[in-house]
Amino acid sequence: MKVVYFFVVLLALASSIAFAYDPSPLQDFCVAINDTKTGVFVNGKFCKDPKLAKAEDFFFPGLGPGNTSNPLGSKVTAVTVNEILGLNTLGISLARIDFAPKGLNPPHTHPRGTEILVVLEGTLYVGFVASNQNDNRLFTKVLNKGDVFVFPIGLIHFQQNIGYGNALAIAGLSSQNPGVITIANAVFGSKPPISDEVLAKAFQVGKNVIDYLQKQFWYNNS
Ligand SMILES: *[C@@H]1O[C@H](CO)[C@@H](O)[C@H](O)[C@H]1NC(C)=O
Ligand SMILES: *[C@@H]1O[C@H](CO)[C@@H](O)[C@H](O)[C@H]1NC(C)=O
Repeated sequence: MKVVYFFVVLLALASSIAFAYDPSPLQDFCVAINDTKTGVFVNGKFCKDPKLAKAEDFFFPGLGPGNTSNPLGSKVTAVTVNEILGLNTLGISLARIDFAPKGLNPPHTHPRGTEILVVLEGTLYVGFVASNQNDNRLFTKVLNKGDVFVFPIGLIHFQQNIGYGNALAIAGLSSQNPGVITIANAVFGSKPPISDEVLAKAFQVGKNVIDYLQKQFWYNNS
């Protein structure tokens, strides 16, 4: 009995080691090369000699308001490893999201990060959609100043300002480079465009509807 228990523990340990061994990707892709001299990317970024690190490497000045004069009426200002190089390998970043009245941060996903958002001003209608496995259930909430909501990693989510004035939120994200895929932009604004035959079938509409959508300008608010 004890021996069986020992092996179960060993197996659990081995599998958790296996999960922990390959680091999660820190960029969209990282194509392997054989010749190390031509390499530019590791998983994340190359590291500075710690002796040369300065306070400035961990600092970002004045995270001010974003310009919401755009078709979506929202602006995401991200502070990731690209803005604070000291965030490399630390698994965290943040974003400031400004909303004009009726402004929308449109349905999007972060392929590498869970998001936790706090409303500092205004009222937001927010939501995320669970995966197919969970019947694409929609989870929504109206958030007022001080309210906090979580958007699980990879799931499609959105935030809309439903108040009369501007709104402001700050989001923490569990990746140094969480990434953003805005659904409409990726599906209807890809370069080059996805075949309208594929999209007409996928969305169960005529090609004319797809062609119309593909002709639109899909503003990127981040
Ligand atoms: C990379 O190197 C390995 C080992 O030398 C070799 O088998 C493989 O064909 C190389 N791959 C490419 C794409 O050059
Ligand atoms: C905000 O963006 C609009 C549209 O691009 C531009 O006309 C305006 O000057 C910008 N405002 C500021 C304060 O940068």
